[in-house]
Amino acid sequence: MPKPKVLVTGGAGYIGSHTCKQLAAQGYSPIVYDNLVYGNKDAVKWGPLIIGELEDQARITRVFEEHKIESVLHFAAFAYVGESVENPEKYYRNNVGGTLSLLGSMRAAAVSKIIFSSTCATYGIPDVVPISVEHPQRPINPYGRSKLVIEQVLKDYADAYGMRACVLRYFNAAGADPELELGEMHEPETHLIPNVISAMRGELTHLDVYGSDYDTRDGSCIRDYIHVTDLANAHVLALENIENLANFTVYNLGNGQGHSVFEIIHMVEQISGKKVPYKLAGRRAGDPPVLVADAQEACDKLAWEPEYHQLKDIVGTALAWAARADRSC
Ligand SMILES: NC(=O)c1ccc[n+]([C@@H]2O[C@H](COP(=O)([O-])OP(=O)(O)OC[C@H]3O[C@@H](n4cnc5c(N)ncnc54)[C@H](O)[C@@H]3O)[C@@H](O)[C@H]2O)c1
Repeated sequence: MPKPKVLVTGGAGYIGSHTCKQLAAQGYSPIVYDNLVYGNKDAVKWGPLIIGELEDQARITRVFEEHKIESVLHFAAFAYVGESVENPEKYYRNNVGGTLSLLGSMRAAAVSKIIFSSTCATYGIPDVVPISVEHPQRPINPYGRSKLVIEQVLKDYADAYGMRACVLRYFNAAGADPELELGEMHEPETHLIPNVISAMRGELTHLDVYGSDYDTRDGSCIRDYIHVTDLANAHVLALENIENLANFTVYNLGNGQGHSVFEIIHMVEQISGKKVPYKLAGRRAGDPPVLVADAQEACDKLAWEPEYHQLKDIVGTALAWAARADRSC
């Protein structure tokens, strides 16, 4: 029997496109809905691409009905922290407003299941690490606040309308599809690993290391890097299990291990055999020294087991993707 069709908002983006590949591998038919503001149409390879805005409620309702969609994986959002500080309206309109519109379409078409891309940015500066899902959420920028508001909306919709919402709070997505059919292509790129690689390749003059005097093992910030294919697999598991979970559930997705900025630089140098030019820059306001996930609940309840948990695999796939002569998908 064919598996149900799923709508993947933001499926032309980095994590959404990798998730479509894993969905298709498990027999799902992913239908991508993306406005291509940041996504890449060549990354949509495992089903149709519908180019449209989240805000177009009537259109999405029609898409649900025409394709007989039963579940939504909701990746579409703006995700640049600095931009969100300068232009919060853009973030609340797109992330919160767009999600409200999507939820309206879901209700109109009686689609009740949604898996939502949230973030460790909803925690703000943590009191303790590793960070569990019970940790208080005190986001320190409009991007993080927009995601927290959506989480709260989903909880209210689950209580009031019987929706089933599974919230996945990712830590730092990284790496590329090991078969190199996909990879990270953000423009502008703000993520550390692709920027370290660009500095190594001479595409940037140097890498700025923001803060080298933190109370960490080498003074630089520590983050939990989770391979994008492992994130993608967690979505498939959430989809498979959503009927058996409570109406509203939250999981952290990370490896539970932290790596510093200097450790990333050294790993890129070790694998590539080339130096990474870098300069020490000041701390950035609001950068927590350490963000590491306690993702045990996702492992226990979803039977999720990150496969590419070693830093050399995460950095190695990112390097292999960057080395492709033709970086289009
Ligand atoms: N990349 C990370 O490390 C990370 C960490 C935590 C959470 N997240 C969240 O995961 C999701 C995916 O992140 P990503 O890195 O793949 O981002 P991305 O920018 O690569 O993908 C997002 C996609 O959404 C689309 N989009 C945005 N607004 C839209 C709208 N109004 N209508 C239709 N399409 C729209 C963009 O065109 C893009 O293709 C985002 O919600 C992000 O907040 C990402």
